[in-house]
Amino acid sequence: MRAIDVIQKKRDGNELEPDELREFVLAYSRDEVPDYQVSAFLMAVYFRGLSSAETVVLTQAMVDSGGTIDLSSLGRSAVDKHSTGGVGDKTSIALGPVVAACGVPFAKMSGRGLGHTGGTLDKLEAIPGFRIALGEDEFVSQVAGVGVAIVSQTPDLVPADARLYALRDVTATVDQNGLIAASIMSKKIAAGASAILLDVKVGTGAFMRTVDDARALAEAMIDLGARAGRQVKCEITDMAQPLGRAVGNGLEIREVVETLQGSGPPDLVELVMTSAKHLLAMSDLGVDEAEAEDRARAALASGAAYAAYEEWVVAQGGNPDPSVLPSAPILREVVADQTGYIADLDAMAIGVATVRLGAGRVHKQDVIDHGTGIVCHKKRGDAVDSGAVLADVHARTADAADETAAAVRAAYRLTDDAPEPSPLVLEFLS
Ligand code: URA
Repeated sequence: MRAIDVIQKKRDGNELEPDELREFVLAYSRDEVPDYQVSAFLMAVYFRGLSSAETVVLTQAMVDSGGTIDLSSLGRSAVDKHSTGGVGDKTSIALGPVVAACGVPFAKMSGRGLGHTGGTLDKLEAIPGFRIALGEDEFVSQVAGVGVAIVSQTPDLVPADARLYALRDVTATVDQNGLIAASIMSKKIAAGASAILLDVKVGTGAFMRTVDDARALAEAMIDLGARAGRQVKCEITDMAQPLGRAVGNGLEIREVVETLQGSGPPDLVELVMTSAKHLLAMSDLGVDEAEAEDRARAALASGAAYAAYEEWVVAQGGNPDPSVLPSAPILREVVADQTGYIADLDAMAIGVATVRLGAGRVHKQDVIDHGTGIVCHKKRGDAVDSGAVLADVHARTADAADETAAAVRAAYRLTDDAPEPSPLVLEFLS
């Protein structure tokens, strides 16, 4: 395999042979192909695309670039969940304990946030003492004992993706469906769960801007999972506005606690319950979706899900008491300057404003402020009177609070008439 031949073939729109693509990826992860050649290859892929056969080969080569997690000692089928990322998306942190409380092992390896979307690990690190880096043995034994673990990926898991993703990030080649599908599915396959629920987000706050693009990505990932012997199902969900009310790490954990204690925002509760229904019906419990939903709702109502959350957080070294979560010193209210209805709340604008408050990172090495963020009290469809509080900004400084408050006000669009209701879960593919 000569790297230049692989680049040229893809540049000219030809399909690569399985062996040459596989060798190209593995050679890159052995440091035998330089970044500049892989950058050229990625740009060729961006414009020419990947066939489904090439996507399968790329995914398997990425899995084979490192180790895989063996969950067979559980003696059970573990479940996993992954979201393509959005603003205020704390679903997995509430979902894990619900599923565990229903007796199904939830084993998730997760990533950090970059850009306007938050990362599950950053949110979990807002919990004082919480350890995200568990060794493989500790990860598996926690899933066996407690029923839920969410940890950072071990460095040995799909190292080719870590390198390729970093390169894609700086060469404007992230948003290519084959590359995204291979990146996500290689990590899910290597992490060992046999049933995987994917949430592909669509809207201004998401990678995918149209339902058609989201569906194509979902279908590619379901196919990759099936070829690897995994059961994969996919929700396509709305990310035109933030999920729930809270955006920002400590604030989102507080909202998870409220959700598990029965007073969560309706959209977050709906997504957690829908996802729990799908995961339990995919699990080895052998229940249909109706029974799965009943069990998930019962776990929430009885307090069993919150008890599972406390046990899980303690197992990973954290303090589950929400009163110890970090907070920010300045609170600024954003108020409506007219009476009407919320027609739009721009998820991207809220995500970007949250990053500016220090709650997200622009560069990988940026340090996160776990106390800052935005709480959107009013969401699409809500009626408001002039002067009503739309949102709260939690900031470190008065200047940051003023600047963010203006950005948050601009993210809200009010109209005289109520907008058409729009669903949260747009499609479910299996
Ligand atoms: N998330 C991933 O893990 N990989 C991508 O390529 C895009 C989103």
